[in-house]
Amino acid sequence: MRLLENADADELYRLIDANRAHLARWMPFVGQTRSAADSLAFIGSARRQLAENRGMQMAIVGGERIIGVAGFHRIDWARRSTSIGYWLAEDQQGAGTMTLAVTALVDHAFAGFRLARVEIRAGVENRRSRAIPERLGFHEEGVVRGAERIGPRVIDHVVYAMTGGEWERVSANRSRDALRA
Ligand SMILES: CC(C)(COP(=O)(O)OP(=O)(O)OC[C@H]1O[C@@H](n2cnc3c(N)ncnc32)[C@H](O)[C@@H]1OP(=O)(O)O)[C@@H](O)C(=O)NCCC(=O)NCCS
Repeated sequence: MRLLENADADELYRLIDANRAHLARWMPFVGQTRSAADSLAFIGSARRQLAENRGMQMAIVGGERIIGVAGFHRIDWARRSTSIGYWLAEDQQGAGTMTLAVTALVDHAFAGFRLARVEIRAGVENRRSRAIPERLGFHEEGVVRGAERIGPRVIDHVVYAMTGGEWERVSANRSRDALRA
């Protein structure tokens, strides 16, 4: 993973455009991304977010090319809480890439930012997205009804969360399992 740069705008736009149908099912930003200028604007807002210590957006890179994006929507410093979002090119699914990327972001949220809580929300019917927090041991806290409008659809979200103490235990178990394997 690496930070997005202005020079990534064309490549990022081409990737979104090539994955429009795949992404638009779950991500409202796709319908508003109509040119490389829109991707450049997104990168600009991500760079401001980082400069103002409100989180970061990372390019996920496979070989030399961008294959997805993952990052923190925002950081609530008063409540020491954040939420994570992500997407991957359709042909890059199924290899555990996003699970690894989200693991790195959660590590950073707790060990780097010293936050108390990380949230992940996913559409109730978004099986692949839900599988990521479930695989990482997040707790399912409930359903937010009418949480998001995606084109003509209004969807419900499942809320998953992890606390710092839980993540320490999950990470310790993962290290122990890796040593045993
Ligand atoms: C959500 C999204 C990123 C999930 O992608 P994904 O490829 O399923 O997730 P991962 O990269 O973590 O890969 C997990 C898959 O790799 C497999 N895998 C292989 N090696 C693995 C490993 N070492 N660790 C974890 N999973 C592994 C898993 O079994 C799983 O495959 P399966 O679903 O066929 O069982 C992707 O579907 C996407 O971008 N969707 C559209 C946008 C979206 O919905 N974003 C989220 C909005 S809330």
